[in-house]
Amino acid sequence: MNIILIGPPGAGKGTQARILEETYGIVQLSTGDMFRAAIRDQEPLGLQAKALMEAGNLVPDDLTVQMLEARISKPDCAKGFILDGFPRTVPQAEALDRVLEAQNKKLDAVIEITADESALIERIAGRFTCASCGAGYHDAFKPTQKDGVCDSCGSQEFLRRSDDNAETMKTRLQAFHTQTAPILPYYKAKGILKEVDGMAEVQTVAKEIKEKLNSAILRYATG
Ligand code: AP5
Ligand code: MG
Ligand code: ZN
Repeated sequence: MNIILIGPPGAGKGTQARILEETYGIVQLSTGDMFRAAIRDQEPLGLQAKALMEAGNLVPDDLTVQMLEARISKPDCAKGFILDGFPRTVPQAEALDRVLEAQNKKLDAVIEITADESALIERIAGRFTCASCGAGYHDAFKPTQKDGVCDSCGSQEFLRRSDDNAETMKTRLQAFHTQTAPILPYYKAKGILKEVDGMAEVQTVAKEIKEKLNSAILRYATG
């Protein structure tokens, strides 16, 4: 199953992608995570992306598409993938279609996770992740069970993102509205767009996404 999660910063794309990975045994492809890894490893791509990301602006389409195309061609994507944070512009959506067509793949569903903007700042301001296994947490909504220790792997090192502040968030939200929201009609016209309320609890959102995905799969199976 090949799916896309779309939503504003903090809507819960990464949180839900990790749940879906486990449920369906398919891989999460987060372009944001890929860029952050390239910055951490001081790769040339990371140097090109760093200042743009810290300011909350999008990385140019050609760099992003190239990176995604290389990743999606790897063997672990053959069983399916969850795109988290890609595509983010109409040219990226069009490029994705070309990449998938060349690989004889298709999209099964595009899930739009909606959220109230007032809640998003609080969500990203409290977010942190395990430096070792990448598990995601939140100071108020999802703290670690034992203070300062990752529930999943026991690591005591955590990361906070440099773009998770109120100032940068304004630019990220603006980028979502002006550059990313215009791809929604593109997928609606293809009949594969499903909307999910991202303001509910994490597990409730997950349940709603799975219901929509299961009906999408059924629809394809029965033609
Ligand atoms: P990216 O990493 O994709 O960030 P984003 O889109 O801003 O989204 P976030 O990762 O901030 O939010 P999320 O929806 O994943 O929320 P999460 O699940 O963590 O992109 C970063 C930057 O990289 C971009 O600004 C751009 O510069 C560049 N970039 C990336 N892709 C690009 C592309 N395709 N083209 C060009 N540039 C690109 O949840 C947030 C918090 O809320 C967590 O703490 C979580 O625990 C909590 N939470 C989640 N769900 C709930 C819930 N239902 N209730 C309560 N709390 C919740
Ligand atoms: Mg994310
Ligand atoms: Zn961990």
